[in-house]
Amino acid sequence: MTDQEFGPDYCSASVRNAKPSEVRKVFAMSARPGMISFASGMPELGHLPDDELADIAAGLLRDAPTTVMQYGGSTGEPSLKEQLIEVMKIEGIENAAPENIVVTTGSQAALDYLSRTVLDPGDVVLAESPSYSGALAVFTSNQAEVVHVPTDDHGLVPEELETTIRQLRDQGKTVKLLYTIPSFHNPGGTNLPQERRDAVREICRREHLLIAEDNPYGLLGFGGRVNRAMRADDDNIVYLGSVSKMFAPGPRVGWAVLPDSLAKVFGLQAEAAVLNPSVLSQELVATYLRETPWRDTLTKYQDMYESRAKAMIAGLEQHMPDGVRWNTPEGGFYVWVTLPEGADSYELCMSAIDKGVVFVPGTAFYTDGRGANEARLSFFHPTEEKIAEGTRILGEVFTEALG
Ligand SMILES: Cc1ncc(COP(=O)(O)O)c(C=O)c1O
Repeated sequence: MTDQEFGPDYCSASVRNAKPSEVRKVFAMSARPGMISFASGMPELGHLPDDELADIAAGLLRDAPTTVMQYGGSTGEPSLKEQLIEVMKIEGIENAAPENIVVTTGSQAALDYLSRTVLDPGDVVLAESPSYSGALAVFTSNQAEVVHVPTDDHGLVPEELETTIRQLRDQGKTVKLLYTIPSFHNPGGTNLPQERRDAVREICRREHLLIAEDNPYGLLGFGGRVNRAMRADDDNIVYLGSVSKMFAPGPRVGWAVLPDSLAKVFGLQAEAAVLNPSVLSQELVATYLRETPWRDTLTKYQDMYESRAKAMIAGLEQHMPDGVRWNTPEGGFYVWVTLPEGADSYELCMSAIDKGVVFVPGTAFYTDGRGANEARLSFFHPTEEKIAEGTRILGEVFTEALG
């Protein structure tokens, strides 16, 4: 490197601390033509009402160009907030006032604003074992330490949460945030029962620990099953919503519902980052939610995803060797697979890729190097036929490697 170059030494501490990830390669492979991807994070868009969406977009540009092509309010457009308030009522949230809502560029951006609002370098964020890789990346790039709390087939285990908080505080650590995905977890595929939601809220209230409830999959329960959001029972929870999975990720619309005490400071972080989210996108989503039968469209997706989940479970049951375990999701996009101790899911993934199937090795969903014998399989993108073929191939690869 010459004196003129801007190499790693020139970069911020958060860039210098970032670990290169082998798993990124896997995400890149998932887009290769012909590959059966159980790694994709892209929702199916085939049921969207394309003509209606084209009319909505054309109508906005024709009838309100000086609004939708202009800068907007820093916390989001009132027309969209009105619709989001209705959407949240489906999961019992009646306590979200417009002034508590900040619209963001996907919920990914909300995770970043939240980190910058409450975290200092070295603060601890508690997350499920495993947890959403995109959130882990945000927390670590904000120089927080992520500690994974044990989970079981139903999600976060309240007693383990309490023990973990106490142990970390006894060690002198500042535990600032519980990041949780109670409904139809990514990547765990779990769905937290109501008693556990209540217990987790109670522990965090007692321990004065802020909860961030991330809920992009809440409306993707099979058979229309919905849970009561944790935010519905506690104004002090930060709730993160997104239209990416219940409508489409293209508009990049997400939102946060903040406690009164954090709404203003969070809004300032959002404004500092982007001034305001796209007005055109927000009005497109608001009109979609206000004027189309979007809940009927959603039902089609729920049914399609449920059939695909069943195809995946059937394929795993038929083809997986002894010693491989998985959970049966009640909604969302993912099945979490646990291989025998000592198995290397990255190696297995590389062998599967050679045979035309890709999935995500479990290490992507931990910050502490765990997950080598775990894997995330997403079922929502490939057709049922492809899922049958893909699980057959995975069965061959796993059986060969695990004996
Ligand atoms: C749990 C979870 N949170 C947040 C996001 C980010 O979603 P978006 O930024 O598209 O709203 C995702 C995307 O896959 C996710 O799975």
